[in-house]
Amino acid sequence: MRQVPFFLNLSCLLLLKDIEILMIIGILYLRCPIDNTLTYDYKSCDYRSRGYVPDYILTNAELETMVETTDEWIFTRTGIRERRILKEEGKGSSDMVVRAMERLFEQTGLKPEEIDLLICATVTGDMVFPDTANTICDKIGAVNAYGFDINAACSGFLYAIQTGAKFIESGTHKKVVVAGVDKMSSILDYSDRTTCVIFGDGAGVVLLEPDATGFGIYDAVLRADGNGRHFLHMKAGGSVKPPTIETVLAREHYVYQEGKTVFKYAVKGMVDAVQQVLERNNLTTDDVRWLVPHQANKRIITSVGEALGFTEDRVMVNIERYGNTTAGTLPLCLWDYRDQLKPGDWVVLTAFGGGFTWGAVLIRWKG
Ligand code: UT7
Repeated sequence: MRQVPFFLNLSCLLLLKDIEILMIIGILYLRCPIDNTLTYDYKSCDYRSRGYVPDYILTNAELETMVETTDEWIFTRTGIRERRILKEEGKGSSDMVVRAMERLFEQTGLKPEEIDLLICATVTGDMVFPDTANTICDKIGAVNAYGFDINAACSGFLYAIQTGAKFIESGTHKKVVVAGVDKMSSILDYSDRTTCVIFGDGAGVVLLEPDATGFGIYDAVLRADGNGRHFLHMKAGGSVKPPTIETVLAREHYVYQEGKTVFKYAVKGMVDAVQQVLERNNLTTDDVRWLVPHQANKRIITSVGEALGFTEDRVMVNIERYGNTTAGTLPLCLWDYRDQLKPGDWVVLTAFGGGFTWGAVLIRWKG
């Protein structure tokens, strides 16, 4: 029951005109929590995931011809052998999501017009504006959907899937598509060996739907520390430093990263987030079938897995073939391991990236 505040008694009301009473009631109504319209019986399940990587394979051997590096250095320091690059002229992140969506439509029978909302996690949207999500909706014919982008770098998919889950849990949306995509090749300096060997292009999508049988997205720990922006960013192209001839000549439209610092924070951030999400759901590492870590560096993945007590056979790894696809890594892992995911498996996604942003999402896999 919504209570009438003590000062809104009859004597007060007598002093006011009708219109003023209506305004006060309107303001009070907006400020009161509406406690009877939300339904929390739903979990949002994500059993339908699909991925797409471009055909072109950029190998370590080819990178050896471009910068002063070796296959041995790249593989031992990062675990990467090759990555995919979207080479087609005039194609961007939206086009990779469209390809992943085509697989989702073909293989699940989902129709574009059934989608209510599309959330796109990316730092390499097709344009600075408009958002890429609505471009994707247009390209796939999702005429009843609206969309928006989430910019949380490598943690973008975690932020987006948790946001999508809340739209489902609210009872207002029935089919929410969450995409994680990046065309990192569009913001890499292929003369900078410290960054260009690490990243690649790729996309993944999941469909979230209501589920009342105990499966789906259980919980999420999402974190951010804006001070981390100093260690991983793009220097120019935003409103602080718009593009000029000087910024282009200074090569400031590319990824800048202080790798060692990011490495240190990444391991701690992911370990803490996973521990926290498990503890508050009364689970231990032993209960979890799959750890799905962001694919930034095989050494980071190993450190996180070991610190948490996961054996290697319970940690998803595909960095060797794709490199770091930023918002694409987590859905691409789910897609790659789709045949090994079984109904009822506890799965924990975790990521760390630019912002800094990081977190962990706990899922009970529906199958
Ligand atoms: O996904 C977003 C979050 N990002 C991350 O989580 C990335 C975290 N950081 C990393 O993964 C690692 O720090 C890197 C892979 C980026 C770098 O590995 P590192 O072991 O930290 O190397 P370093 O930066 O300390 O460099 C060691 C040496 C340097 O040479 P000197 O100064 O010792 O002579 C670098 O110049 O390795 C050199 N180096 C390379 N050598 C050959 C750096 N890049 C290369 C390269 N090939 N590609």
